[in-house]
Amino acid sequence: MSDDARAANRSAYELSLHDPEAFWGQAATAIDWITPPGRVLDNDRPPFYRWFTGGELNVCANAVDRHVAAGRGDQAAIHYDSPVTGVRETITYADLLARVTAVAGGLRGLGVTKGDRVVIYLPMVPEAVVGMLACARIGAIHSVVFGGFAPAELAARIDDAQPKVVLSASCGVEPSRVVPYKPFLDEAIRRSEHPPQHCVILQRAQLAAEMGERDLDWADFESSPAALEGADPVAVAATDPLYILYTSGTTGRPKGIYRDCGGYAVALRWSMEHLYDVRPGETMFTASDVGWVVGHSYIVYGPLLTGATTVLYEGKPVGTPDAGAFWRVVDDYDAVALFTAPTAFRAIKKIDPEAKLLGEHDISSLRTLFLAGERLDPDTYEWATAALGVPVVDNWWQTETGWPIAMNPSGVGLLPIKPGSAAVAVAGYDVRVLDGMGEQVEPGVEGAICLRLPMPPGTLPTLWNDDDRYVSSYLAAYPGYYLTGDGGYIDADGYLFVMGRTDDVLNVAGHRLSTGSLEAALAGHEAVAECAVIGVHDDLKGQVPRALVVLKSGVDADLDGERIRRELVARVRAEVGPVAALQQVDIVAGLPKTRSGKILRKTMREIADGVAPVVPATIEDVAVLEALAPVLRSPDR
Ligand code: COA
Ligand code: AMP
Repeated sequence: MSDDARAANRSAYELSLHDPEAFWGQAATAIDWITPPGRVLDNDRPPFYRWFTGGELNVCANAVDRHVAAGRGDQAAIHYDSPVTGVRETITYADLLARVTAVAGGLRGLGVTKGDRVVIYLPMVPEAVVGMLACARIGAIHSVVFGGFAPAELAARIDDAQPKVVLSASCGVEPSRVVPYKPFLDEAIRRSEHPPQHCVILQRAQLAAEMGERDLDWADFESSPAALEGADPVAVAATDPLYILYTSGTTGRPKGIYRDCGGYAVALRWSMEHLYDVRPGETMFTASDVGWVVGHSYIVYGPLLTGATTVLYEGKPVGTPDAGAFWRVVDDYDAVALFTAPTAFRAIKKIDPEAKLLGEHDISSLRTLFLAGERLDPDTYEWATAALGVPVVDNWWQTETGWPIAMNPSGVGLLPIKPGSAAVAVAGYDVRVLDGMGEQVEPGVEGAICLRLPMPPGTLPTLWNDDDRYVSSYLAAYPGYYLTGDGGYIDADGYLFVMGRTDDVLNVAGHRLSTGSLEAALAGHEAVAECAVIGVHDDLKGQVPRALVVLKSGVDADLDGERIRRELVARVRAEVGPVAALQQVDIVAGLPKTRSGKILRKTMREIADGVAPVVPATIEDVAVLEALAPVLRSPDR
């Protein structure tokens, strides 16, 4: 970055904190408003902050209609590329407008109106994006559920969101197998206390779903009279929800992250050029899934709000068909930006350590590689940098914030990269590292990474229908601050190093999972008296779960241990989903706890990872931990 660009970035950052109204008011001019906002930052009711109050807009119109009106109708909006099915399709902005209008009309025909919820349980197919935008068009609130989640997880989300309609498919297609989605959906609805009125099912060529009374075939739905009539974009308040995206906390009950319309649209549009260096007409390839926040923000809304082209990739980094898949996609669509999780690069490196497959493709269009979703380890950073020859930009954020908290501002000009650091705080984020007393620590000292309130537009204003849980989960620990749940430090140059979660949230191959969900699945087994799940280091996936289980008295571990272990692995797969990837279950005599009964997961995790453990003074019985230590240290049971 030139000195001028550095100074400009610094002063923009300062302005964003000292005069957020001026900064975000200016950014908001990149969005089409039906009614311009009366206020930029509404801070009348701390700790609840609202952005762009009084404003009305339609996010779908901003992501689709206005680009068609501006002459981008023939430009590709979406390149759907599915190596697992062999299908490729380019959807122009004009096509997208027609499809979204029809699905919005179809939803309206099913009685969906402004404020109603629609759950989307779909694989990486265009209908997922069309469904999201169609909801936004009529002011309905979508809640996308990742396809790798099992019925119990889906049921929990259905019960919390209480959707009128579910959009789903007969199946997903994984490299190793066809995953039947419809039976999962039926099972989730059977378990749910708030079943939807209708399910619209996309019948895919790989597997036909059996249809029930409440089910409608997507093809009939999209050609119904209501769909043919279509639906125009409605005016939605800037502060109204655009979507709910559930994410994992420590407990088994997922948190419904509430995303508003105005703040999100403004922040994402701003981030595309300033952070990701992607401009109208350019192509971004984000290899994630629409079920995660990265997919919401940088497969769907960010690129489309910008009038850029997005790639919807239904495949994996390796095995579909080889470790050159990403390079092939970059080449085919001239992507300027590739965004994925470090684990994907570790998978590629494992199979093609010298990146020989790069030689088969022309990736000269690529300007930057962006990695997020988990800590970017320096080895992966070095390998990717050497292989691709473009800057590799780490970015740290979470479902709650919706867009990056810390990142090297690629679109403005790169600051020097420090491997292991996500670089500097992004505009609008006042990032502080606090100690246990809430005091800011010195540079280089680790603590809890917190964000001083108010957070910028686009971040969660609260949790869906649960202000109290929002306050108790995120704001209560340090008044005036949002607790990110990550620990780390800021160095003397202002670079942030994120070292990992300070709570028990798991991160498996960039997938965020709750220990509570896995433990609930284990505890449901008749032989289990007590259990704990910890996330331990894994060279490929970053972390994998490991279960420690105490059997009920009378159960013979020698006789039945092997069978019980197998059943527990299967239970987690059936109750949480295959992405949980639980493989190791250790049957142990007892679990270490504090005197108040809290299981010492962190201490166990430290022992398993070979880190010097911090044993709290409040431990109930140190002998239990000592007995467990050799088990934890051994990689295999
Ligand atoms: N629907 C149904 N099942 C799914 C699924 C989906 N959308 N996504 C994953 N699964 C299944 C897989 O088929 C696999 O099942 P299996 O145990 O029967 O083989 C299981 O869940 C684990 O999948 P995954 O986490 O993908 O592990 P993997 O070993 O198959 O592949 C990687 C490893 C590194 C290639 C893969 O994890 C990957 O591509 N990671 C990138 C992560 C990412 O994009 N994260 C998003 C945040 S940015
Ligand atoms: P999710 O909400 O699923 O996006 O997961 C967010 C969590 O993933 C964060 O709280 C971090 O623990 C972790 N994470 C995401 N990106 C990074 C990153 N760039 N560096 C370190 N950890 C990250």
